[in-house]
Amino acid sequence: MRVDIVTIFPEMVRGFAREGIVARAHERGVVDLAVHDLRDFTTDRHRVVDDSPFGGGPGMVLKPEPFFRAMAHIRATRGEPSAVIVPGPQGRRFTHDAAVAWSRAGHIVLLCGRYEGIDERVVEGLATDEVSIGDYVLSGGELAAMVVADAVVRQVPGVVGDARSVSEDSFARPWLDYPHYTRPAEWDGRRVPDVLLSGHHAQVARWRLRTALERTLDRRPDLLEGPGFPGEDGADAERTLNEIRAERQGSRPGRQERKQES
Ligand code: 6GU
Repeated sequence: MRVDIVTIFPEMVRGFAREGIVARAHERGVVDLAVHDLRDFTTDRHRVVDDSPFGGGPGMVLKPEPFFRAMAHIRATRGEPSAVIVPGPQGRRFTHDAAVAWSRAGHIVLLCGRYEGIDERVVEGLATDEVSIGDYVLSGGELAAMVVADAVVRQVPGVVGDARSVSEDSFARPWLDYPHYTRPAEWDGRRVPDVLLSGHHAQVARWRLRTALERTLDRRPDLLEGPGFPGEDGADAERTLNEIRAERQGSRPGRQERKQES
C-alpha cells in the first residue's frame, strides 16, 4: 500500500518512518511511505506556507495553494489515492474500523495542519475525511498522522509477523486485552498467575477472557454498552461478564475501582 504524508516538519515524520513497524513494512516492500515537505510546493522566494486569519484572531492559518500543488504532485507521481485524510481536533474520532478500512484502500494521503489551523478550502476541496485521535489538542497534525499511519500499516497483511497479534488486538475485539507475562516466573516477589504456567490451554483461555473483561468493566465500561459488544462468537464473553457482575454485586469492588475510591 502507499502512504503519502504532507507536512511542514518532514524530518519529524521521516524519523518515525525510519524505525519500527513502518520501516519494516517498507523493507519488505509491503508499504511505500513518502513524506513531502509542504514548503516545496510554495512559489515565493521565502517559501511562506501560512498567513493571518481573515476575520482576525490569534495565530496563523496554513495557506491553501501549497496543499493543492502538493496533491497535484502526489496524483501525478504516485497515483490517485482512495482517501485524503486531514488530521485535526475537529474531525470524527479515528477508530480501529477506519484503520482496517484504510489498510484495504491501497493508497492514502495525510495532510498535516499546524498553528491555529488549515484553510477550510483544503478540507472542502481535497479531503475525503477529517479525523481526530482523541479529546485533547495537539499543536499539529503530524503526531496524529503518524498515529493513523501506524494503526493503518499494522493492519496490512504481512506487516506484523504473527497475524494473531493483529486479530487479537484490543479493539479488534470489543473489549480490552488481557495482561501479558514472560520469564522469570517470579520477579521482585511478584509471581506470574499459576494458571499461565499450568499448560491447560482451556483454563488459560478462560483466565484471559475473564481478566480482559474485568479490566474492561473497570476502565472502559462504555465498550461493554456499545453496539459492538459482545460481537461474533461473544457468547462466552457475555456469560463471563454476567458472572463477574453477579460476583461483584455480592461482594468486593474490582482493583481499579478500589484505587479510584481512595
Ligand atoms: Cl488529529 N490533530 C490535532 N492537532 N489535535 C488533535 C488531533 C488531531 N486529535 C486530537 N487532538
